[in-house]
Amino acid sequence: MRVLTTILLKILGFFVLLQIALRIIKRFYVFSPPAFMGPFLDSDFRRKLQSPDKVIKRSGITEGMRILEVGCGSGAFTTFAAKASGIKGEIYALDIQPKMLLQLKKKLSRPENRDIKNIKLIEGDVHKLPFDDNSFDVVYTVTVLQELPDKNRALKEMKRVLKPSGILAVTEFLPDPDYPFKSTTIKLGEEAGFILDKVEGNLWNYTVRFKAQKSR
Ligand SMILES: C[S@@+](CC[C@H](N)C(=O)[O-])C[C@H]1O[C@@H](n2cnc3c(N)ncnc32)[C@H](O)[C@@H]1O
Repeated sequence: MRVLTTILLKILGFFVLLQIALRIIKRFYVFSPPAFMGPFLDSDFRRKLQSPDKVIKRSGITEGMRILEVGCGSGAFTTFAAKASGIKGEIYALDIQPKMLLQLKKKLSRPENRDIKNIKLIEGDVHKLPFDDNSFDVVYTVTVLQELPDKNRALKEMKRVLKPSGILAVTEFLPDPDYPFKSTTIKLGEEAGFILDKVEGNLWNYTVRFKAQKSR
């Protein structure tokens, strides 16, 4: 029992030190997780800690919506959004790293996902979105905002592509070395002109929902 406790404490200590080291490095260098992290992002272990169905529900995604996922990575949430929006819905999964999109493409070719036909993969930068104004009902993003070099510009781009009554949903998750408190996320959204709608989840796994509230 004592040996097991020592091992568990060592593992915990390793992760705490890793978090601290990454947070210090990230103060000086802004960088995204490399593509080899894709399988960790889209793993059963993560799904146990952060239920994709709950994240999608909290993001306000319902049937028939036109949706943009910013920084989809290897697609941990994309197929869940696709199912929630149904055959009449459309998901545009955008990421700056082609190797992440390749992992999502492979995921979509698996037998269990062959009925999903409403996802389009887009290689692009959120600071300069390749979409017209007023294009989407929902823009959602999970553990991405804090790693962007110009958060205000990125949020304003998300606002530009949202329909006047559109929703922006920002989800953050504590094991992410960029994790911010809810108050930081709310402040960033409001500074970019969004109106706070709802905050759901808990301290370490939350979604802040904003309304675009644009004049038509
Ligand atoms: C921490 S990962 C999260 C991936 C996914 N949302 C998830 O939770 O599993 C951040 C993702 O944002 C993408 N990203 C970073 N900067 C970006 C940018 N400027 N435009 C679009 N995507 C970006 C990265 O390539 C990476 O896939």
